[in-house]
Amino acid sequence: MGPLGQYADYGWGYYYFPKLEGEISNRMHFRGKPVLVWSLNNYLGLANHPAVREADAKAAEAYGMAYPMGARMMSGQTAYHEQLERELAAFEKKESAYLLNYGYMGMVSIIDALIDRHDVVVYDSEAHACILDGLRMHMGKRFVYPHNDMEKLETSLKRARKLTDQTGGGILVITEGVYGMAGDLGNLPGILQFKDKYGFRLLVDDAHGFGTMGLTGAGTSEEQKVMDGVDVYFGTFAKAMAGIGGFVATDKPIVKALTFNMRSQIYAKSLPMPMVIGALKRLELMRTKPELKEKLWTIVRALQSGLREKGFNLGRTESPVTPVFLQGGLSEATQIVADLRENYGIFCSMVIYPVVPKGVIMLRLIPTAVHTLEDVQYTIDSFSDVREKLDKGKYSDGTIPAVADKY
Ligand SMILES: Cc1ncc(COP(=O)(O)O)c(C=O)c1O
Repeated sequence: MGPLGQYADYGWGYYYFPKLEGEISNRMHFRGKPVLVWSLNNYLGLANHPAVREADAKAAEAYGMAYPMGARMMSGQTAYHEQLERELAAFEKKESAYLLNYGYMGMVSIIDALIDRHDVVVYDSEAHACILDGLRMHMGKRFVYPHNDMEKLETSLKRARKLTDQTGGGILVITEGVYGMAGDLGNLPGILQFKDKYGFRLLVDDAHGFGTMGLTGAGTSEEQKVMDGVDVYFGTFAKAMAGIGGFVATDKPIVKALTFNMRSQIYAKSLPMPMVIGALKRLELMRTKPELKEKLWTIVRALQSGLREKGFNLGRTESPVTPVFLQGGLSEATQIVADLRENYGIFCSMVIYPVVPKGVIMLRLIPTAVHTLEDVQYTIDSFSDVREKLDKGKYSDGTIPAVADKY
């Protein structure tokens, strides 16, 4: 059953594959009960923004979900796809951009298309699964450096340079912008300090940073004032844009090479028109309504400072992603989450070993622009309650709540 499937019978429909029902917002329904939701990457609250709903519906009415048929290269190209690419490139201050039908598949193919066996990859140890899966196809060498450890990065770069001097290949460094679990940022300036010395290209997966970080929402590279240093920028529509699909923005010759070599895009259907027209509307709102990002950050600051004031450990987050670390094992984690859902009406996600070390429970909160300061206060109070119960051993009887549905 694998590391996730081994607990399937304890958690089906509850911890795994829960059904959140109702309009996407701060308040939804779970198993018929209202819950305050902190689990959705709807950072800017665009999922249910009236202008977005209208654009999505109009596009669906005008084009249906089928158009265009086929892959971009064969029969799936439209002027709207090209327009969205131009607008994304401008937003990211890059020469060019290309759409991806699913960020995950896109990233796998970006890596596959950018490198061959002569090239060496140097990547962060906490890289997302899509990066690791892209690397599975790499026939050349790769070096992993401990998360954001710049000294170890340099050691890897030295080894990489030695190899590429022999093979004639290049070096690709890969990091995330915002790390989606812990919420800390990839140290882009730290990485870039080595660029001249070792000569590499930098690929940044900014799934969580696109729309949330930087003055205009252009992402972590804007936040860290290194937009020029990022050679290949990757963003998804699945988080701040509350859509689906993604994009890569970079120099024109690289986009050209990617366009003709990303197998997940060449051999798969183009993004349907409502996704593309919907993404244009979302991008327009991101550009013209800075108040959405300001509201997001008002909630982020209130939640994070409020939890910290109560002594909660939020690790090293510098982004909206808000991990709350507690001590305990699987049974405590499952009881806490059930208590939060059943008795406090709070729906959040939990992360346990092996994603975090043994004995650590991480409850992950995702603040959004549709949350309120009352939601924040209620959650801080509820978390304080729950921690008190945890400290008093109320969750320590070793049982796992019998909440699972039958698979
Ligand atoms: C860091 C990171 N990269 C890539 C992806 C994949 O994006 P998408 O949902 O568009 O496939 C995600 C989404 O979970 C992510 O968190």
